[in-house]
This record gives sequence, C-alpha cells and structure tokens, in this order.
Amino acid sequence: MYSLIRPLLFALDAERSHDLTLGLLRAPGTTPVLHRLYGAHVPELPVEVMGLRLPNPLGLAAGLDKDARAVGPLAAMGFGFLELGTVTPRPQPGNPRPRLFRLARRQAIINRMGFNSAGLDTFLANLARGPRPAILGINLGKNKDTPAEQAADDYLSGLRAVYAHADYVTINVSSPNTPGLRALQDEAALAALLAVLKTEQLVLAEQHGRYVPIALKIAPDLADEAIDAIARLLLSHRLDAVIATNTTISRPGLETEPLARESGGLSGAPLRARSTHVIRRLHATLDGRIPIIGAGGVFCAADAWEKLMAGAELIQIYSALIFHGPGIVRRIVAGLADKMRATGATTLAAAVSQARRSG
Ligand SMILES: Cc1cc2nc3c(=O)[nH]c(=O)nc-3n(C[C@H](O)[C@H](O)[C@H](O)COP(=O)(O)O)c2cc1C
Repeated sequence: MYSLIRPLLFALDAERSHDLTLGLLRAPGTTPVLHRLYGAHVPELPVEVMGLRLPNPLGLAAGLDKDARAVGPLAAMGFGFLELGTVTPRPQPGNPRPRLFRLARRQAIINRMGFNSAGLDTFLANLARGPRPAILGINLGKNKDTPAEQAADDYLSGLRAVYAHADYVTINVSSPNTPGLRALQDEAALAALLAVLKTEQLVLAEQHGRYVPIALKIAPDLADEAIDAIARLLLSHRLDAVIATNTTISRPGLETEPLARESGGLSGAPLRARSTHVIRRLHATLDGRIPIIGAGGVFCAADAWEKLMAGAELIQIYSALIFHGPGIVRRIVAGLADKMRATGATTLAAAVSQARRSG
C-alpha cells in the first residue's frame, strides 16, 4: 500500500509531503482501514516500563505529530505507544522553509524545523477531540523567545498543562534547532531543571492522585563524561526514564552528500551506531535502575535488538516510518517476537536479559 503512494510523496518537497500525509491520515474513515491493514497484524509483545503496561515495545518518536492532530490513525498502525509533540507553551512558527530534507539514498533526514508548534492550548484541544487509543507520551519544549534563565518555567507550565492527559511526559533538552536549548544538558543547568521538575511532579501526583513518569530526552552529540554525568543526575533526581537519542549535528559518513551541508539535526540510518553508543554508555551507569528508551536509525528488528542489547527497554522510530511506511511496525515487532521465541523465553524482558548475560 505505502509502496504505491511513496513515489508520489517523495516527488514532493519533504515538508509538503509531510503535511499531505498528516492530512490524509486525518481523512474520515482512515483509522479503521489503517487498523485492518497494519495494526491488526502487529503481534502482542507486552512489556512493562515506567509502571506502564505497553502492548509492544515499539513507539513513534516525537516530532511527527507535534500538535496531536492524528492520534487515532497513528495508533491504528499498531505502535505500542506514541510520543506527541514537541509542544511549546505558546504557539510559534518554527524556522523558515525549507527546513526538512530527505537523503533518501542514505535513509536519512535532516530537519531544522525549530519547534513549529500550535502551542499548548491547541494541542490539548486537539487531544480532547479524539479518543485515547494508545499509551501517550507528551514531549515538552521551550519557546524560542523564552530567555535561557526562564527555560524551567516553560517546562513547568507544560508539565502542569499536560499532566492529566499524559501517560508519561518527556523533557526535550536536546533539539539542535532551538538556540541554547542543549546547554540545558550541562551538569549544573540540568541539576537545577530536574530538581524543579521533580518537585512539581510530586505536587501534581498528589493533586491528581496519579503519578505520571517523566523522561529526559538527550542528544547523541555528548562526550562520554557528559553522558556519565547525566546518568548520575537521573539517578540522584529519580527521573523515570531517559530517551536516547535526539537527532545529531554530526554528519557521519555523509561527506559526499550535497544535502548533508544543510544545517539541522540528522536522523535515520547514519545515526544508528552513535545512538546505540549513547545507550550503552548510559546503561553502564544506570544498570537497569532507570529505563532507557532507544531511538536513532532503527529500521528493522535487528536494529531494535541491537539497542535492547545495549541497554534499552523500549524503542522509538521516526525516519523508518517515513521511508518504509506503517508496515514497518509489524515487521519490527514480529521480528522481536521471533527473537524472543528463539531464546525460549516467554517475555521480551526475559529474552533480553538472557541474551545480554550470554552476550
Ligand atoms: C522531521 C523530524 C522532526 C523531529 N522533531 C522532533 C521534536 O519535535 N521533538 C523531539 O524530541 N524529537 C524530534 N525529532 C527526533 C526524533 O524524535 C528521533 O529522536 C530521531 O529522529 C531519531 O530517530 P530516527 O532515526 O528513527 O528518526 C524529529 C525528527 C525528525 C526527522
């Protein structure tokens, strides 16, 4: 099915094709068709992470549905969870176009969208309009014109606004396209941010009678010592999860690609090894005490397994969905289920820990 429309979509400018696809997804009657064609064929592979029970470990990464416009149809593709956003407190247009580039031969994307966001009010109105057919993460960012010293206020207002509507919340300090954002990963700044978020999370949990986990999403462009420092902060502030990784500002192996000169964050196949390295490095310190959600260049079950072996418990994809369409969800989840059966284990978690021990 996707192989029929892909040539049309790829003939268009990347962002027009993205807008068109979201429009098509939201057309009346699409959700049951997507479920019949795709979601219904995804095998059950339940996992429990962050206190949540997920039907399978493969999620949609943030950035595809920034404004919660297509939750029903995306859930119907069979994802175990969806991460919506990044949403900023106030609406903002993002960077001027063109800001999205496909490097099709390399199965890669460069984007410098810059948090184009309809803002929290519209995001929540969109979410309220539809059903809640999946586990939902909501990814929070800061507005471009919010000064760095007030960044925490943007995350706090986001956390308060989405708390009642999220299964987990992601704090995005790793987009390369908002000036100064990634400096929030520096040890002192991150310690201060995590402290205020943790305090607010506990207040909100009391108010709502429900504890909503918080994940931190980090960049792949961190030195090993910085990854170690982040892991220690996650432990000392008792964060609930870490997502590794966002897009990279490096251009591994892309010297001969003219489009690689475009500024922005690179995702897809060339990011895979680097993001797996970050996962492995985090895992060395976290040692299973805080779950890792792995993202970056996953295109098949073997790629997902590589990240599970490095220490991830859940996987997210974005670029693979663009290049291969919704059938990729079944292929990856079914491949992981096969790997689980091959080990003789009855849960994915048991298969992974068995394979990690013997690997
Ligand atoms: C066009 C595009 C937009 C993205 N927007 C966001 C975003 O708003 N927030 C975020 O946390 N990550 C964003 N990402 C990063 C993805 O969530 C993911 O971390 C990254 O693409 C690596 O996964 P992949 O190689 O499977 O694409 C975006 C990625 C792409 C390609």
